[in-house]
Amino acid sequence: MMSKNLSTITTLLFSAGLLGLSATAIANEDPTPLELVTANPQGTLVNPFDPTDPEIAKEGHQIFMETGCNGCHGGTGGGGMGPPLSNQRWVYGDEPDTLFRLVTLGTQTLQENGYSRIASEKVKAPMPPQASGGIVIIESSERLWKIITWIQSLHQEKDNG
Ligand code: HEC
Repeated sequence: MMSKNLSTITTLLFSAGLLGLSATAIANEDPTPLELVTANPQGTLVNPFDPTDPEIAKEGHQIFMETGCNGCHGGTGGGGMGPPLSNQRWVYGDEPDTLFRLVTLGTQTLQENGYSRIASEKVKAPMPPQASGGIVIIESSERLWKIITWIQSLHQEKDNG
């Protein structure tokens, strides 16, 4: 879960990242998700958008639908063939960095990169990669961050009520 403080910290980390770690990613203003994942060490990716901005979340939801994520996760993220995104259970954790890698690489490659299931959902199956050979390809990191902002916003709604 993302607290106000944590998001301030991540914003600071992001600024620090701009100066150093993500130099490769910055060279191209909007790298593909795979480029971003490959250029940055695990745990260093930070959502450049404000996770409490309802406009970005709304845009992210539109992209989620356009990209076909709803085919497995349902139009409101409530789940279907894939696990729900709207509950408080996160199979590999709730870090935006982890979610970004999960969607980009798919969960088989994510596991090969050292991640393991720390929680289980009713659905226990691998998610295909979106970066190569997957059902859909997300060309832009910005678009994927917007989707992730929407997913984060679902959790905030739950927290508030
Ligand atoms: C072919 C079906 C399918 C599609 C399409 C799909 N997913 Fe998934 N997704 C899954 C499955 C299955 C899992 C569970 C993976 C696991 O347990 O290893 C999952 C897991 C996730 C998780 C982690 C959920 C949790 O509870 O921890 C997120 C976030 C996610 N998907 C986002 C997306 C996004 C964003 C898209 C569109 C770009 C997408 N998915 C497209 C099947 C799919």
